[in-house]
Amino acid sequence: MAHSLTSFADDVWQNLSTCILVIDDAYTIQFANNSCSELFGLGLKRLLKQPLLSIFNHHNIDLEKLSQYVLEEGVDCQQHRVDVVFIDNRSATLNIYSRKIVHQGQAYILLECRKIDDEVKFDQASKQMHQYHAARTLIRGLAHEIKNPLGGIRGAAQLLQYETCQQEREQCAQLIIEQADRLTELVDKLLGPNQLPNKTSCNIHQLLESVVKLCSFENGHHIGLKKDYDPSIPDVVIDQSKIQQVILNIVRNAQQALKQGGEITLKTRFRHRVRQGDHVVKKALLIQISDNGPGIDEQLKDTLFYPMVTNKEGGSGLGLSIAQTLIEQHGGSIECDSWPGHTEFNIYLPFTSQPSGNNE
Ligand SMILES: Nc1ncnc2c1ncn2[C@@H]1O[C@H](COP(=O)(O)OP(=O)(O)OP(=O)(O)O)[C@@H](O)[C@H]1O
Ligand SMILES: [Mg+2]
Repeated sequence: MAHSLTSFADDVWQNLSTCILVIDDAYTIQFANNSCSELFGLGLKRLLKQPLLSIFNHHNIDLEKLSQYVLEEGVDCQQHRVDVVFIDNRSATLNIYSRKIVHQGQAYILLECRKIDDEVKFDQASKQMHQYHAARTLIRGLAHEIKNPLGGIRGAAQLLQYETCQQEREQCAQLIIEQADRLTELVDKLLGPNQLPNKTSCNIHQLLESVVKLCSFENGHHIGLKKDYDPSIPDVVIDQSKIQQVILNIVRNAQQALKQGGEITLKTRFRHRVRQGDHVVKKALLIQISDNGPGIDEQLKDTLFYPMVTNKEGGSGLGLSIAQTLIEQHGGSIECDSWPGHTEFNIYLPFTSQPSGNNE
């Protein structure tokens, strides 16, 4: 039985679509499964006992990571989008997962390599598509927002041309000023916040309470507001009015999406090791704003934080885009997860120990 199980396991790993390689501490290939010969363009006999680097004409595999993290420290390691050129000059992009294994007292590195060229191409194509749609939405929204005041300005100027009554002339001039101001306000909003954050140390719960107060004045149809605060969270260094603006924008959206009887929950937590783009923040404050409304419209999801993305009558679609700019100014991040019956916005703000002037 033991024998048949071993050969069964052997069949399984030989037939995996993922390439499995085992190398020793001198980077010599000790084992390789069948998929490797297809990917590397070499028979298994040519692969075994060969130095790993001899199967590439070029590669950007981080070998230091393999020896230092994997072999010495025993930490699993992932390398994404590694470009390689094989000895027959074919090129590929790989994801490589590596892990230390010890067999009969000898340390090895187990490498799982996956070719991801198709995914990379698909990603690029869908990114281009997104950008195209986002640009179109932005231009349409802008055209709409600009056309209305422009129409008003033109009409008032025409009247002004022939109007002799002083009072009427003043009214026309006033209308032109108002519409011009509306356009300026729109451009300012589009350009985003133009002042650097003025950060001070603050208690996040007091700030949230002030938003709750503001919102309960506007709360037309009795939406419940639930609080789930972690009282042990220390003060955080932020620009209070800007973070208040962010929370307000998100809570208002939730209120607008909810019907009577809906509920919004404000939650705070302390988070360790939060990944932000290509770096990791050691300590971060999580502010989560969730609601039990209908969820984000599927068509908006991919471009939610872009300007002018809205499905509201009279909405400018700038609330979330402004929120994202403000959070980025704080070195934080904002993300959204939503399905019917649940929407949550998670804001991560890094803890900085000192109020650090105006421009961190
Ligand atoms: N909690 C939520 N539930 C459902 N949909 C939401 C929620 N929050 C945001 N949305 C969707 O995201 C869109 C974009 O929101 P955003 O705040 O950027 O713009 P807006 O609310 O439409 O306009 P503005 O805030 O500028 O007045 C909204 O139109 C809405 O469709
Ligand atoms: Mg909004």
